[in-house]
Amino acid sequence: MSDVAPIPRTGRTWLERFWRQVRRVQPFEGDCPAVRVPLLAPGRPSLPFPHPWNYREPLRILDTFFVGAEKEAGSRRHNRYLDVPGLSYVLVTREPAIIRAVLSATSDQPGDFDRDTMPADGIARATGPDSLLYSNGALWRRQKKLAAPSFSRSNLFQPEKFHDFERTFRKTVAERLDLLRVRQTESGQSVTRVELEPESQVVMLEMLVNNFFGGSVSYEELRDRFVPAMVLLIDHMVSDTVAHRLRAPFRRLSPRWAVVRRAQADFETLTDIALSGRADGRGLWAQFRSDAPDEALRSNIRVFLAGALEATTSFATWALAHLSHMPDLQEAVYQEVRGIDVYDPDNLAQAATLNRVLEETLRLTPSLYFLPRRATVDTWVETADGRRMLIPRGTHVVLDVWHANRCEDFWGEAESGYPADAFAPARWEVLAGKGRSPKEILHFGFGHGPRVCPGKFLGLLEVGLVVGAFVKVFTFRAVHARTEARAGVSTKPADGVLVDLELRPLPPPA
Ligand code: HEM
Repeated sequence: MSDVAPIPRTGRTWLERFWRQVRRVQPFEGDCPAVRVPLLAPGRPSLPFPHPWNYREPLRILDTFFVGAEKEAGSRRHNRYLDVPGLSYVLVTREPAIIRAVLSATSDQPGDFDRDTMPADGIARATGPDSLLYSNGALWRRQKKLAAPSFSRSNLFQPEKFHDFERTFRKTVAERLDLLRVRQTESGQSVTRVELEPESQVVMLEMLVNNFFGGSVSYEELRDRFVPAMVLLIDHMVSDTVAHRLRAPFRRLSPRWAVVRRAQADFETLTDIALSGRADGRGLWAQFRSDAPDEALRSNIRVFLAGALEATTSFATWALAHLSHMPDLQEAVYQEVRGIDVYDPDNLAQAATLNRVLEETLRLTPSLYFLPRRATVDTWVETADGRRMLIPRGTHVVLDVWHANRCEDFWGEAESGYPADAFAPARWEVLAGKGRSPKEILHFGFGHGPRVCPGKFLGLLEVGLVVGAFVKVFTFRAVHARTEARAGVSTKPADGVLVDLELRPLPPPA
């Protein structure tokens, strides 16, 4: 909860509120006013809400909210809302101080915000509603106690456990890179053109299923069966969220329905495999302490499999995509990681350039590009500098991390020495020089507050290892001059990270 003193609800009836909406009264009282965005207006990139013809371009929908924002001053530049009389308000904010205040006040306490389940309908239909990601209130608290400790820093990074675990991760990555190296050598070409996203997906799923959950699924089966099934299902989750009501009566008639059913069956098989390690304490199950029956864990396992695959692939592919445009930076990371064999927390902490690359990747291209919240009551939030904003009950709050992190006002040259929309890991040195730590200046790449990502340390370890190991073996150059973004559940490089790949010469034998 925020430390704002609770105030009484405004107590407005539905009719009073409706009348205020008709008269277009500013609903967000306090020091941080927002600007109303018209539903229809010429010349904008999209309509300001998802519908069956625009839902594949969610970043453009968000762009729409900030058209003309540069003409405004203060909070009005960054807080924008939709207001249709009779419906709940939709507030889109790219102001980091407000984002932070709302995230800090999202929990199971009375009066706190919920995670808005509306944009995750399709995810819940595929994974089950009783998961850590989807649930709110007391159910969320129970799920957090049950599932989050397995991923905590103290559990994962206990020295006596960590080394076995890290070694299996490293072995998996080394085997996959060897395959790529052999393919490259056998091609007889010094440079080959490859899309890195499919390779990354398989290695990420392999680490999760085999190393983390103690499964033993072959690389080929992951590549040819499970990854395609999950990619299809994740795509289905997005379209199902927008079009469920329209399509539900007819979906069994669609030829795609059989394909989705097959993918769901594969997903269930993978969930069974992940759970099967529990009985004999394989992988990280050895540390799992709970009497909960397997059935009670299924939704969370599905969320971990699909969510972690999606988020870690997004993070790793963006880091590789950014490096593919910057050979000098690639070289700097190489000089740093060439001597690292074990990716333990101490060694990783030494890899300052790699760490800055990862931090900057999450800032400029966050995997989760917006964080959805819902006000359960009329709620005052307070920013760190003492400004207050009333968010009325029922408001859908879209915390637009993508635009916050690209906004010159917060991340531009004056603040960090580099333009906000440039990939510049060196900005973190400038910020540190000004005495500003990443704890103070947040990019929300793993969220913030009580619902922060429980997989943060696992994810950072996996992505650091994959990027570090890859840079050690290959040099790679982007094929396109610019990498565009596409977005669904998460953001990804639109070209699948298409690069020209070249083997580094093997180091001379020691
Ligand atoms: C490394 C890449 C990852 C990124 C960038 C990432 C990002 C995020 C973010 C931004 C949130 C907050 C969402 C919100 O506030 O609405 C979140 C929540 C969550 N993440 Fe991650 N994540 C990553 C990896 C993982 C992994 C590896 C797991 C599990 C194995 C995981 C499981 C979850 C769960 C269950 C939640 C919901 C937590 C709650 O609501 O209490 N994530 N993640």
